[in-house]
Amino acid sequence: MACLNKPLSIAVTSLLLAAPTHADDFGHDEYMSACASCHGESGAGDGPLAELMTVPVPSLTGLSAGNDGAFPMLRVIQTIDGRQGIKGHGYPMPVWGKRFQEDIETPGPYGAEAIVRGRILSLAYYLESIQE
Ligand code: HEC
Repeated sequence: MACLNKPLSIAVTSLLLAAPTHADDFGHDEYMSACASCHGESGAGDGPLAELMTVPVPSLTGLSAGNDGAFPMLRVIQTIDGRQGIKGHGYPMPVWGKRFQEDIETPGPYGAEAIVRGRILSLAYYLESIQE
């Protein structure tokens, strides 16, 4: 029994260790392709498109600091998603929930919504990881 358990626990441990890194990489890649043009590569709000916007593009590294030290996970998810309209129509940031949904050609067994939420969640975790 013991000799069966050891490889299993090694496999589980390496899965657990690998999971967050993988999620961060995914969120980082998503961020670089969808967000850095406005919010900047480091999240400082200084991407090349920022100066073309009619409203200031916020830095995304001080979201926790501006919320008593706690990362405002739900607000961030809803802001990125944009479909629930916490800011209402005319919010200057693209509605990512809708864009991600339109990207999906074959939704697979869990449906398009699971994919959209996964992408948004990876982005939110990535943003949490760059808080100062
Ligand atoms: C076209 C430029 C643009 C792109 C691309 C963009 N954003 Fe934004 N984002 C903005 C602007 C402008 C605001 C501020 C809107 C306001 O305050 O009215 C904002 C606000 C935010 C906020 C709210 C910050 C706060 O202080 O609450 C978050 C979170 C955010 N963006 C995340 C993202 C993520 C994640 C992506 C990529 C998926 C992204 N943004 C892509 C322009 C952009």
